[in-house]
Order: sequence, then structure tokens, then C-alpha cells
Amino acid sequence: MNAGPAMAALAARAADLFSSSFAARPAAAFAAPGRVNLIGEHVDYNDGLVLPIAIDRWTLAIAAPAADPHLSRIRSESQAHHASLDIRSPILPDHALTWTRYAAGAAEGVRAEAAAAGWTLANLDVAIVSSLPIGAGLASSAALEVALAGVFALGNQLPVEPRRLALLCQDAEHHFAGVPCGIMDQFASVMAEEQHALLLDCRDQSIRSIPMPPTEAASVVVMNTNTTHALAAGEYAARREDCRAAAAALGVASLRDADQSMIAAAGSLTDSQRRAALHVVSEIGRTRQAAALLDRIHADASAVKACLGDLGAILRQSHASLRGDFRVSCPELDTVVEVASSVPGVLGARMTGAGFGGCALALVEPQAIPRLVSEVAAAFPAKHRRNADLFRVQAVRGAGAVPIR
Ligand code: GLA
Repeated sequence: MNAGPAMAALAARAADLFSSSFAARPAAAFAAPGRVNLIGEHVDYNDGLVLPIAIDRWTLAIAAPAADPHLSRIRSESQAHHASLDIRSPILPDHALTWTRYAAGAAEGVRAEAAAAGWTLANLDVAIVSSLPIGAGLASSAALEVALAGVFALGNQLPVEPRRLALLCQDAEHHFAGVPCGIMDQFASVMAEEQHALLLDCRDQSIRSIPMPPTEAASVVVMNTNTTHALAAGEYAARREDCRAAAAALGVASLRDADQSMIAAAGSLTDSQRRAALHVVSEIGRTRQAAALLDRIHADASAVKACLGDLGAILRQSHASLRGDFRVSCPELDTVVEVASSVPGVLGARMTGAGFGGCALALVEPQAIPRLVSEVAAAFPAKHRRNADLFRVQAVRGAGAVPIR
């Protein structure tokens, strides 16, 4: 169990990578955090409500004016392939199945933003490091997009409104990585506030920051199953399509406008569409309840214990719905959630992110964390022949410039 590597350690790694890759001194650094979604899963693309926190694990991009003005070179500590592109003219999607698609998409987003304002950006040499596990459901791709788009803007002194930054990164994911994601991850990475959860209404993109419970009452622990199931991307698109088709059959613009009675009365839904609709409608309701509980915890110290208990119950219901109705869990996620739920002092647990592997979260009374760690360490490898990694996370503020040492 560790508390998450600090930004200073990450910055030192970035400086090392930069100096071993390029013969220049870095001039700009931009960090973007990953996120844990407390609740509101698979509802962002249904115009629903989500409640993520940005976490103290980041992707950090540091940059200097390019040695060759015709070329940006982008090095990532964790990837064998380097990206290179020319940001002075439109960048086309490539179909290489590597991380470079995200890099190209983020660069093109900022380039187009600059072009609309009459600017031509200069190329940069960029080094990227991250303390986020990649592809584990903690929005590592959003953090990469935001860090890179952010450093290209910063290194060129181009002001980009936070909301625009989030949206152009979502665009990169759609058009360059081919993932039809919603808006939650990029918004959380850009707009979250320290020690707050971000209540985002994905219909009108309005946001409200709600204080997290005091850490002495409850901590958020991430349980990484170290599993990725190959079907994740296809199943994500399939669930999205079920939701779209269910909304069309119910005659509503999106499942945000549906309710349980409409679903019960509808004769034309397939089983899979009906279950998708049931999950989305109930999950949006749970997100509203969770937000109200966080408000109450903040407003009334005498209500903290009872409200945290209720919040935990809602997390458990969310997992059951994602597992049973929406069918995006997997045996590894179910194991960590079940084990966690049996530990005294764990208030609730559920998978977080797209599912089919990756991470679950547990809301835990701090004194119960050692027991949670040991129970998962005892049960998980015996069943799945690998370890699960547990770490406590803090709610941090969204992306921004980082001072260069
Ligand atoms: C992924 C997507 C998000 C969201 C979640 C599920 O993280 O990028 O937009 O749909 O899955 O809630």
C-alpha cells in the first residue's frame, strides 16, 4: 500500500527522461491527473450525472522548443514507440494501434484550436512520464491527451479555456483512438477541485464541486485487478449502442429522460436494451442520492456516520447493477468487491470506469485499510493467479502547469 508517488518524484523522472532524450532545457511542464469515478458509471454518454474525483496520480508532459522546427518529437517513458508530428499543419489520424494515436489526436486538437484563433503553433520536443497504471480504468488515456494538449498550448503561450481543453481531448479519443467515450474522464482530469468530487451533468455540461468526506472518516482505496479483457473496447461500443437503441424505442432523446415505468411498459425492447436502460436510469438516481449525501456530510457533522453508511450501500447497489444488468464487470472485479465488502469498516465497494478489468474502489474507514489489504492479498491471488494492487487516493485539483525546477 502506498499513498501515491508525489508530483516531485514524477517531475524528477520527467527531467531525467527529457535530458537523456533531448539536448535542451525544458521550458514548460503540464500535468493531468487520472480519475476515480465515485458513482455514475456508463451514464455520461446517456446525458446522465457522474461524480468523479481527480486522483493524485498524474501524467506529466515536459517540453522545450523543438530542435528541428519542422518536427515535434514525443517520447514516453513507458512506450517503445516514439511519436513525431508537425504541429504547424493539420495532423491526420493514423491507424497504428499504439499510444501515438492519442498523441496525434491531442496535438491536432490544440493545433485546430490555435488555427481558429489565427495562430500557428511551433513544434516542441516532449517527454512524458506517468504514475497512473495504463489501461486500468483510471482514465490514463484522458490524462495523456490532456497533458499533451496542455503542454503544446502552454509551450506556445496559447490560452485554452479548461472546458475547451476537455472537449478537444474527447474529440481526440473519438477521431484518433476510435473510442466513442463520453465526457467524464476529460472533464474530471481538467476541471476537478482539490478535496472535492465533481458533480458533472453530462447533458448541459454544468459542474458543481462537492467536498469529499473528511479523510479521518472515510478514504478512497483503489483496488487494481491488473486485468484487461480484450473485449473491453467492443463491449463498450455495444453497450453504447444498446443505450441509444433503448432511448429510440422509448421515444426519448436519451435515457436521461426515461424512468422505470416507461421501461416496464415498453414492449419493443430487446432483453439487452431493457437491462441497459434499467441500469442507466437507476444509476442516475444513485448518483443524485450520492451527491445529496456528500452535501449532507459537509453540512452536518452529526450525520457523517449515517450518511457514509448510506453512501456505501449505494456503491454496492451500483456494482450489482453494473454486474447484473449492464454486464460490464468480470470475475476479478467481482472478487475484489466481494472481499472488500466482507471487511468490517469497508463502507462500500464497486468497479470504477468502463469495466471488463481494471480497478474497483472501496470507501473505507481508515483503520480498516490494513485488514482490507491483507484480505485481498490472501484471497485474490489464490483465485486469479496474480496480485491485486491496493492504494489510497486523494482528491486533487485538475490539470495545470507545473513549475520547472
Ligand atoms: C470510460 C469512458 C467514460 C465513461 C466510462 C464509464 O472511462 O471514457 O466516458 O463512459 O468509461 O462510465
